[in-house]
Amino acid sequence: MSSKKVLSGAAAIIMVLLISMLIINGCARKTVSTGKAATYVGSAKCKECHEKLYEGWRSTMHPYKFMDALPENVVADFDKNNTFTAGDYTTKMSRKGDEFFITTIGKDNKEDTYKVKYLIGSVWKQRFVTEFPNGGLHTLPVQWNAATGGWVDYHGLKEHKPGDGKYWSDKTMTYQFNCTGCHNTGSEFTYDTATDTFKDTKWADKGVSCEACHGPGSNHIKAEGEELARTIVNPAKIFDPRRAAMVCGQCHTRGKSTGKLFDFQNPEYPVGYKPGGLLTFIFEEKPGVNPDGGTSRQHHQQYIDWEKSTHAQTGVKCWDCHYTHRQGTSNRYQTKLPGSLLCKNCHIDVEKTGVHGIHSTNNCIGCHMAPAAKSATPGDIHNHSFKVMSPHETIKLGKDQPNSCNLCHYHKDDKPEDLAKILDDIKSKGWSGKKDKKAYKTQ
Ligand code: HEC
Ligand code: HEC
Ligand code: HEC
Ligand code: HEC
Ligand code: HEC
Ligand code: HEC
Ligand code: HEC
Ligand code: HEC
Repeated sequence: MSSKKVLSGAAAIIMVLLISMLIINGCARKTVSTGKAATYVGSAKCKECHEKLYEGWRSTMHPYKFMDALPENVVADFDKNNTFTAGDYTTKMSRKGDEFFITTIGKDNKEDTYKVKYLIGSVWKQRFVTEFPNGGLHTLPVQWNAATGGWVDYHGLKEHKPGDGKYWSDKTMTYQFNCTGCHNTGSEFTYDTATDTFKDTKWADKGVSCEACHGPGSNHIKAEGEELARTIVNPAKIFDPRRAAMVCGQCHTRGKSTGKLFDFQNPEYPVGYKPGGLLTFIFEEKPGVNPDGGTSRQHHQQYIDWEKSTHAQTGVKCWDCHYTHRQGTSNRYQTKLPGSLLCKNCHIDVEKTGVHGIHSTNNCIGCHMAPAAKSATPGDIHNHSFKVMSPHETIKLGKDQPNSCNLCHYHKDDKPEDLAKILDDIKSKGWSGKKDKKAYKTQ
C-alpha cells in the first residue's frame, strides 16, 4: 500500500471517529443550558430522582469497592490470625479500638506501623491502603483472602525490595497512579514531580457509581425535557456494541494508559475515558495470560476476553447477562438468570447430542466459561471468551495450561489425555450415551 493510501485511510477513520464523537459527546455540550462541560456530582444527587435504581445499585457490589477502614467494613482478622511471615520477617496486623494498623518493612528498609485509612474489596479479597506524609496513598503489602480466610503476600514481601520500583512503598506504587481510576468515580488529584507530593486527592464517590457508567451528570441534573436524555449517557443507546461494552471495559480490563500523567507514569487505568468514548487509543491492553497466549490467567480482564467472542461479534453485551441496578437484592455475580438458564434463555436449540450429551445436567458455564483465572485463589474468575478450553491444549503446553474438563475432573486419574480422547471420539463417531460413559469412568 502506498503511504498516501495509508494516510487517507487514517484520515477517513479519524473523520468517522470525530463524527461519532460529536454524535455521542458533542450534542450534549452544545445544547445544555449551561453550555459547560459536565462535571461529577456524586450518586446522592442521582438518588433524588432515580431512587429505585439507586437502591438496586446499592444491592450490587459496585458501590463498596473502596471504603473507609471502619470496623463494619473490615472482613480480615486483625485480632487472632494476625501475622504473615515471608522469609525471616513477620508482618503484624493489630487493632486499637476502631482503628487498624499494619506493622511491616517500608521505605528505606525500615520497620514501621502504618494506619489503615481505606479498604478495597471484600468479596474475593481485601486490601489495605495507608496514606504517606506526602499525600501518596499506598496499598500495604499483605492481602486477606476471603474464601480461605488467611493472609497472603500482595506486593513486595516475597519478590521485591524497597527501592526496586515494585515494592509497595516505592513512589511508583501509589493508589493514585495504579488503582483509583477503576475503584473510585470521578477521582482527582494533583502531583508535584519536583517535590513528590500529592495534593487534593478526592472523588465524587468512593466506589463504582452512577457516573462511572453514565458519565458526569452536572448538566443532566439541571436539564429539562429533551435535554434530559442528551445530557447523560445511556449505555443501551450507544449504537456500536464494542463502544457500548467499553463502558464496562474501562475497568474490566488490564493494561496501561498510553499517555503519561504529570510527566511521570502511565497509569494502569484509562485516563480521560468517558462513557460513550473510545478506549482504543488511550489504553494499551496487557492481559495476564495462560501458556496458550490467549486465555486469561489474571482477573479484571472480562472485557478483553469478551472482545474475542462470537458474542462480541453479534452484539451480545455485558448487560445482556448482568444487571447493574435492578430492583430487589442482587446475586453475587449480578446475572439476570442463574446458571445455565441464563444461556438457555437465548440458546434454545442446544440439543443433548454430541458433546452436549455427555452430562446428565448440562452446565454451560462449567465448559464455556471455565473458572480458569485468579483473583484471590486459582479458579475464582470465569473465562469470558465463552470458548471451551480444551484438554488438547493442556497436553500440548503442560499442566500450567488449565482446561474446562479438568477443572471439574480434577482427580489425579482424570488424565487430560483421556478427556481429549472422549472429545476426539465424539467428533469422529458421535456420543452414544451409556456405552461411552462406561469407557470413561469419572473418579
Ligand atoms: C432532577 C431529577 C433528576 C436527577 C437529579 C437525575 N436525573 Fe436522570 N433523569 C431524570 C429524568 C426526568 C429522566 C428522563 C425520564 C426517565 O428516564 O426517568 C432521566 C433520565 C436518565 C437516564 C436515561 C437517559 C436516556 O437517554 O435514556 C439516565 C442514564 C440518567 N437519567 C442518569 C442519571 C444520573 C447518573 C444521575 C446523577 C448524576 C441522574 N440521572 C440524576 C431526572 C433526573
Ligand atoms: C483497569 C482497572 C483496574 C485497576 C487499575 C485496578 N483494579 Fe482492582 N479490580 C478491578 C475489577 C474490574 C475488579 C473486579 C473484577 C475482577 O476481579 O475480575 C477488581 C478487583 C479488585 C479487588 C478484589 C475485590 C473483592 O471484593 O474481592 C481488590 C482488593 C482490588 N481490585 C485492588 C486493587 C488495587 C490495590 C489496585 C491498584 C494496585 C487495583 N485493584 C487496580 C479493576 C481494576
Ligand atoms: C456499572 C455500570 C452502571 C452503574 C454503576 C449504574 N448504571 Fe445505570 N445503566 C447502566 C447500563 C449498562 C444501562 C443500560 C442497560 C440497562 O438498562 O440495564 C443503564 C441504564 C440506566 C437508566 C435508564 C434505563 C432505566 O432503567 O430507567 C437510568 C435512568 C440509570 N441507568 C440510572 C442510574 C443511576 C441513577 C445510577 C446510580 C444510582 C446508575 N444508573 C448506576 C449501567 C450502570
Ligand atoms: C469504574 C470501574 C468499573 C466500571 C465502569 C464497571 N465495573 Fe464492574 N466492577 C468493578 C470493580 C472494581 C469490581 C469489584 C467488585 C468487588 O470488589 O466485588 C466490579 C465487579 C463487577 C461484577 C462482579 C460482582 C461482584 O461480585 O463484585 C460484575 C458482574 C460487574 N462488575 C459487571 C460490570 C458491568 C456489566 C459493567 C458495565 C455496565 C461494569 N461492571 C462497569 C469496576 C467497574
Ligand atoms: C442475549 C442472548 C444470549 C445469551 C444470554 C447468551 N448467548 Fe451465546 N450467543 C448469542 C448469539 C446471538 C450468538 C451468535 C449466534 C449464534 O452462533 O447462535 C451466540 C453465540 C454463542 C457461542 C458461539 C457459537 C459459535 O458458533 O461460535 C457460544 C459458545 C455461546 N454463545 C455460549 C453461550 C453461553 C455459555 C451462554 C451463557 C453463559 C450464552 N451463550 C448466553 C446469544 C446469547
Ligand atoms: C461438556 C462441556 C460442554 C457443556 C456442558 C456445554 N458445551 Fe457447548 N460446546 C462444547 C464444545 C466442546 C463445543 C464445540 C466447539 C468448541 O470446542 O468450542 C460446544 C459448542 C457449543 C456451541 C456452538 C454451536 C454448536 O452447537 O456447535 C454453542 C452455541 C454452545 N456450545 C452452547 C452451549 C450451551 C447453551 C450449553 C448449556 C446448555 C452448553 N453449550 C454446554 C462443550 C460443552
Ligand atoms: C453471555 C453472558 C455473559 C456476558 C455477555 C458477560 N458475562 Fe460476565 N459473567 C457471566 C456469568 C455466567 C458469570 C459467572 C456467574 C456464575 O458462575 O454464576 C459471570 C461473571 C462475571 C464477573 C465475576 C468475576 C468472574 O469473571 O467470574 C464479572 C466481573 C463479569 N462477569 C463482568 C462482565 C463484563 C465486564 C462483561 C462484558 C465485557 C461480561 N461480564 C459479559 C455471564 C456473562
Ligand atoms: C461443571 C463440572 C464439569 C465439567 C466442566 C466437565 N464435567 Fe464431565 N462430568 C461431571 C460430572 C459431575 C459427571 C458425572 C455426572 C454426569 O454424568 O453428569 C461427569 C461425567 C463425565 C463423563 C461420563 C463418565 C461418567 O462417569 O459418567 C464424561 C465422559 C465426561 N464427564 C467428560 C467431560 C469432558 C470431555 C469435559 C470437557 C469438555 C467435561 N466432562 C467437563 C462434571 C463436569
